[in-house]
Amino acid sequence: MRTLVFRGWADVGVLDLLTDGRSAKAAELRQQPAVELCWLLPKARCQFRLRGQLLALPAGVDQQERQRHWQNLKPSGRALWGWPEPGAPLAAAADFPTELNDEVPLPEQFQLLRIALEQVELLELRDHPHQRRRWRRAVGWSEERLNP
Ligand SMILES: Cc1cc2nc3c(=O)[nH]c(=O)nc-3n(C[C@H](O)[C@H](O)[C@H](O)COP(=O)(O)O)c2cc1C
Repeated sequence: MRTLVFRGWADVGVLDLLTDGRSAKAAELRQQPAVELCWLLPKARCQFRLRGQLLALPAGVDQQERQRHWQNLKPSGRALWGWPEPGAPLAAAADFPTELNDEVPLPEQFQLLRIALEQVELLELRDHPHQRRRWRRAVGWSEERLNP
């Protein structure tokens, strides 16, 4: 389980995440594209489980969309992609920039993870009994009520 920032909707049921292509998760996703994302909203006492597949984007679209996300990030938000390989042993002389400005070219390791969702499940603990609902792409995202 890893925490990733939600970077927005690309289309209906398609969402974007950003990561470092050198990270373990990126390697795992190259082996198999299935993902399950969890959004926990503790104050609202509810949980979303979003299940889908990592999309293999055409090279041109991938480049364009990576560039768009890169430009939208603040220099401080970009900085992580200027750091040495995640998870590798820390070197004494390693450089960890605090900012990467607009002139820095798009780093190769700046990876867009575009996920096409197949189903979304919502569990709400607020009322008795708890409410559990599911929406599936295969049935046109119609709402299905389930036992909690
Ligand atoms: C609040 C928070 C937000 C994070 N956002 C991201 C993110 O957007 N993208 C990302 O790759 N890692 C993000 N991370 C770090 C990952 O959870 C993970 O620790 C890191 O990417 C290394 O994962 P891996 O080496 O197992 O692949 C975030 C961590 C925290 C605590």
